[in-house]
Amino acid sequence: MIDNVIKIFKDIGSKDFRILTGIELGMKHYEWVPMEELQKFTKYPYGKLQHKLSLLMKNNLIVGTYVPYEGYQIYFDGYDALALNTLVKRGTISAIGDEIGVGKESIVHEAIKESELAIGETTLVIIKFHREGRTSFTQVKRVREHLSDKEHFSWIYAARLSAKREYDLMVSLYPKVSVPKPIDHNRHAIVMAVAKGSLLSKTRLLQPEWFLDEIISQIGKAYSLGVIHADLSEFNIFVYECGVQFIDWPQYVGLDHPNADELLKRDVFNVLAFFKRKYDIERDVDDVVAGIKHSTSIVE
Ligand SMILES: Nc1ncnc2c1ncn2[C@@H]1O[C@H](COP(=O)(O)OP(=O)(O)OP(=O)(O)O)[C@@H](O)[C@H]1O
Ligand SMILES: [Mg+2]
Repeated sequence: MIDNVIKIFKDIGSKDFRILTGIELGMKHYEWVPMEELQKFTKYPYGKLQHKLSLLMKNNLIVGTYVPYEGYQIYFDGYDALALNTLVKRGTISAIGDEIGVGKESIVHEAIKESELAIGETTLVIIKFHREGRTSFTQVKRVREHLSDKEHFSWIYAARLSAKREYDLMVSLYPKVSVPKPIDHNRHAIVMAVAKGSLLSKTRLLQPEWFLDEIISQIGKAYSLGVIHADLSEFNIFVYECGVQFIDWPQYVGLDHPNADELLKRDVFNVLAFFKRKYDIERDVDDVVAGIKHSTSIVE
């Protein structure tokens, strides 16, 4: 899908972006944003607007309906285009590269970031587009709680809220807890540093005990800042020569969450089960959890 956006991005003009923005704003209140609202917002004449809308539909950036009235919705690709446009304009990224991961609720690509100094080298970064809201009921529920009565729920709010939640948390953890450096975010997209090393699930460690200690120590650091990852496993942990990095934070919970203890225990359990399975290292879940809580109380 993003491939489509990348292909046509250079052909999307400022007028198209204005129409997309109009639909995005209208979706706060309407499931299908009425044509009249778009006319008011863009001030384009009816014929011209309709022509542009049909091209946007052809390029899969929006979808339209004529029943019970003429109205439009933004499509993921259109929302991706809006976020990319903002990130490019801000100078955060200048190009987008290969897809490197598709999760249940996101699409992850490499991207190029220009150096802050005009003469410097470009760097490779990661852009994660959130995709929540279409299938996840908990997400829908969470978003509804943030919306006023007048506002209409749409997946773009779920995806945007989730991205903001993840980005804000990464900013608050970095660099105390080892996470990729957060760089920027807009709408449902987050730009961050490339995680160091490789995924724990895909790596054969030569000193597994040392890495397990590192992982437990990072869980403890997050805990001491009041945060539990709540989806930790070998698929969300990167390992490199000097340590580990945790990714994928949108579902984190605070220590005041009603299931905080359970979620902490599950994170620890997932990690220990993996080390048992792959490296035959045995540690007691309750002991490790107690250790994490104990070391936190010493820090306080
Ligand atoms: N900062 C990063 N550096 C390198 N690779 C990354 C980074 N962030 C994400 N990835 C890659 O993209 C994949 C998906 O990212 P992430 O786990 O954050 O999303 P997700 O949609 O929640 O995934 P899942 O549903 O599989 O847990 C990761 O497994 C990883 O391979
Ligand atoms: Mg993941």
